[in-house]
Amino acid sequence: MRALLGTTIPIGMALTLCLTASCERKAQTQVFTIGMSQCNLGEPWRVQMNADVKTAADKHPSIKMIFKDAQNDGLKQRAHVEEFVSAGVDLIIISPLEAQPLTKPVAKAMDVGIPVIVLDRRVRGDKYTCFIGADNKQIGRAAGRWIVKQLGGKGKVVELKGLMTSTPGQDRHTGFRAGIEGSEIEVIFEADMKWLEGKARGEMESALARFDEIDLVYAHNDPGAHGAYLAAKAAGREKDIMFVGIDALPHEGIIYVKQGILDATFEYPTCGKEAIDIALKILNGEEVPKEITLGSRLFTTENVEAGGEPIGSEP
Ligand code: FRU
Repeated sequence: MRALLGTTIPIGMALTLCLTASCERKAQTQVFTIGMSQCNLGEPWRVQMNADVKTAADKHPSIKMIFKDAQNDGLKQRAHVEEFVSAGVDLIIISPLEAQPLTKPVAKAMDVGIPVIVLDRRVRGDKYTCFIGADNKQIGRAAGRWIVKQLGGKGKVVELKGLMTSTPGQDRHTGFRAGIEGSEIEVIFEADMKWLEGKARGEMESALARFDEIDLVYAHNDPGAHGAYLAAKAAGREKDIMFVGIDALPHEGIIYVKQGILDATFEYPTCGKEAIDIALKILNGEEVPKEITLGSRLFTTENVEAGGEPIGSEP
């Protein structure tokens, strides 16, 4: 700068140059803090979601991530959001355990001007910046239709539901029921296994004890389908039953299909990369859509080696 001042550049202009340079340096070095609250890290799918967020965030030196794990405790997750607000983070990403209890904390963060990206499970109402997830009703419906086809229009089915106070559980249920409507598929047993393999196994033991004939298990996630398979295997009945799950992680559901443990699994994308893409846009003051719906693929014994196939968008 001294060199510049020694030449013919007027002092005002030099000052402007100086200020612009320092502003640019500040803009380049500005770091945004993003707080992410994950509802639990006990399941492979959620571990993958955090890994996807981290991989995407690591590519941007302007982002500093703070990860918190609520360990399936709604109160803990509520406290996370409140802590992020008092720490004054620039943006919050949340994958909520349940819709109702997390609605207010998210709304409060929005009230103080902190944008919130909600992933995979919804909160109530529309007080959030952007929701990213797949269409769980569509996945449930596609599962229902596929099952009707596989069973030739009739059969006895067990439905192992995800946590029914979370929106994917509700939507995978209503979508499925719509998908089997008009067929002679009978849901002979249904239970809330809360997304947990161990609980699914216990519920399946009850179903097996009550019913001599079960044609297929539709579980709202792959851990649930796997738990049901283990119960059937312990009872020596796994070969008589088909198992269908949702998630299709490469190192979980897809492997189960390849091994013949599951007959089908539907992909449930983690939204991790998309969350960071959208976070950057918000932090840079760009407009973002309120809803981002990601697609899903169906993997079966027949198509798994070829990479599955996209599920249709039929009504
Ligand atoms: C993991 C999980 C997934 C499921 C998703 C629904 O916690 O249970 O298996 O697809 O949550 O929110």
